[in-house]
Amino acid sequence: MKYKDYQNIEIMEHPLIKHKITMLRNKETKTAEFRSLVEEIAMLEAFLALQDLPLRDVETETPIETCMSPVIDGKKLAIVPILRAGLGMVNGIHAMVPTAKVGHIGLYRDPETHEPREYYCKLPENINDRLVVVLDPMLATGGSAAAAVDFIKERGGKHIKFMCIIAAPEGLERLAKAHPDIEIYVGNLDRCLNEQAYICPGLGDAGDRIFGTK
Ligand code: PRP
Ligand code: URA
Repeated sequence: MKYKDYQNIEIMEHPLIKHKITMLRNKETKTAEFRSLVEEIAMLEAFLALQDLPLRDVETETPIETCMSPVIDGKKLAIVPILRAGLGMVNGIHAMVPTAKVGHIGLYRDPETHEPREYYCKLPENINDRLVVVLDPMLATGGSAAAAVDFIKERGGKHIKFMCIIAAPEGLERLAKAHPDIEIYVGNLDRCLNEQAYICPGLGDAGDRIFGTK
């Protein structure tokens, strides 16, 4: 389903994604299960988000004859998790496209201003030739996602998608306005942000829940 008039924002409707997000939200869900759910949701979202992945034909011998048959050109894909919580989505994508290259962008939100602060950026080479999929389970104010896309563009990235599990309307609109040329995939659109810029109802702090730090 498209969000409002934005043709580049896709809100997922698949019941498996909705079900797993409900399990993620539950405050009783423990770290190991939380991590598995994040991976599974990333894998399911990838079905839709990666439907235009480039293919190349390879010669394949079947028991009957030899034919040319398509395989995914995984070397053309770069996945870029925003640290820390985006790391939780990497294995889900890698399960489908093991040859995808991985870059990392380290950002954290300033606790006072909620604006992103960069501490790390390492991207695969030839980023301009790749489809770049930025991963972060949470799109709250949108500051981290917009900054991550800025970094990728500054380094030559052109074809960029952003994939998240839960978004707030405020962040979704900020990202879409800052980067109208990227495609955005959202597992669920939540109600709003609270005074601390946490998503409501949300799932709490994704990084802490994935890595068991609280
Ligand atoms: C969380 C989350 C996003 C960001 C979203 O990371 O993983 O990166 O907040 O918020 P925003 O849309 O308002 O920028 P956090 O800054 O808590 O860092 P962490 O992943 O290291 O815990
Ligand atoms: N980051 C999170 O992990 N959760 C939120 O609700 C907002 C930002």
